[in-house]
Amino acid sequence: MPDIAFAPDRIPADGAFALLIAQDQPATDHFNAADTQTNGAIGRAMAAAGFTGKKGQTCIVLGATAAHPSIVLAGLGRDPTARAYEEAGAAAALALSREPAASLIVADPAHAAHAALGAALRSYRFDRYRTKETADDKPRLATLHILTSDPEAARAAYAPLAATRDGVFLTRDLASEPPNVLYPAELADRCRALSALGVEVEVLEPAALAEAGFGAILAVAQGSAREARVVVMQWRGAEGAPLALIGKGVTFDTGGISIKPAPNMEDMKWDMAGAAAVIGTMHTLAARKARVHVVGIVGLVENMPSGTAMRPGDVIRSLSGQTIEVQNTDAEGRLVLADLLWYAQDRFQPRASIDLATLTGAIIVALGHEHAGLFSNDDALATQLLAAGIASGEALWRMPLGEAYDKLIRSDIADMKNIGGRPGGSIIGAQFVQRFVRGPWAHLDIAGMAWATKDSPLAPKGATAFGVRLLNQLVAEHFEE
Ligand code: BES
Ligand code: MN
Ligand code: ZN
Repeated sequence: MPDIAFAPDRIPADGAFALLIAQDQPATDHFNAADTQTNGAIGRAMAAAGFTGKKGQTCIVLGATAAHPSIVLAGLGRDPTARAYEEAGAAAALALSREPAASLIVADPAHAAHAALGAALRSYRFDRYRTKETADDKPRLATLHILTSDPEAARAAYAPLAATRDGVFLTRDLASEPPNVLYPAELADRCRALSALGVEVEVLEPAALAEAGFGAILAVAQGSAREARVVVMQWRGAEGAPLALIGKGVTFDTGGISIKPAPNMEDMKWDMAGAAAVIGTMHTLAARKARVHVVGIVGLVENMPSGTAMRPGDVIRSLSGQTIEVQNTDAEGRLVLADLLWYAQDRFQPRASIDLATLTGAIIVALGHEHAGLFSNDDALATQLLAAGIASGEALWRMPLGEAYDKLIRSDIADMKNIGGRPGGSIIGAQFVQRFVRGPWAHLDIAGMAWATKDSPLAPKGATAFGVRLLNQLVAEHFEE
């Protein structure tokens, strides 16, 4: 990611620069100045390329003058929102990434801050394991200068957005790490680093988990050579009952004895994306000193087949005391959430609990890669989450819950079983989780949203960090003092 530096707005005497252009609006002073300085080359290039400032459109003007080898135009669309500035800033940064030095001109300081955030988010790379990249393979741009009418105001507006960026990057890093590197104890260690921001971090190890009765989490972990961890992170930016954020952190999901097919099993390294989103959100909230009490709890396990693994048919006792017949060891995420939700409610009496989990393939069948599934027992909380989804660009779609679905997980031997047939698979998963819920609760099934196989306006393909911006938005709107 290039460094971001805010400076006064002027057309740079030399070097590459970008202008953001709204559709159907009179040309800005900056546009006119740049066009004059290039003897009309920008206007001619726009006309030739059919560039009108439409959202998503970019135009690269090459060789306009000797001093300006490339000038980038990025479209904002009509009536641009903060989001439009983020996406256009992202497109501009991408087009400028091969330049040794570049500027992005955005007169309004608040818009400049959002353009900077977009540029940063889109420039994310996870290249820790590439040893053979040459300078040519990598983006060259070291600093992106954002030229704006009030650099001081832009810097102030960017501070909380930089906290968002850092939380998103942490989440993307965690979800991208390979499963041999990022196993439960290692992920717990990465949580510990949040204490530098003032987050209180407690790590529960297997002996403590067994003592307390986390029978469902330990059942998932028992097939793995890697020990389970539960991490409790608290950010006390305010007094009073906390908001609880719960994350599924399966660092690798083979399916266990109910083993998954080989094709694409490597994807299951990001079966901890719910936990990663919770960790990234805690980072963002602490980094911007949000005036809220939030507790983040993640359950970290590896789901493996082995001689010690849980079997289909096993009956386990969850932390709540309720017993579960495990009919499919691949429905492990709900077992993790069961103990975490119970623990969170028992210990913290939260105002609300929100869990995030890559819980079911069925939610991808239902909603594709456009919305995460939202399940909730509380209409007010659901409404707030839906609105936060629209505002943050991390969209949710509400799914039903109900008695008729709950019946499908009745067991002949225990209080419930962990599967209930293919139809409505994501609802059945949510219904199972709800058996461990007492207060206001929402469950976000993010299986279709945590990882992207193609680039998007604000992220390269790979880990998306879905949930961080959503939860930060929700907290800012409804939970901060
Ligand atoms: N981690 C998976 C769900 C998943 C699938 C996430 C694809 C991301 C992409 C989860 O643990 C799982 O295996 N769920 C099963 C549940 C079934 C056994 C009831 C599934 O979806 O097949
Ligand atoms: Mn599974
Ligand atoms: Zn899983």
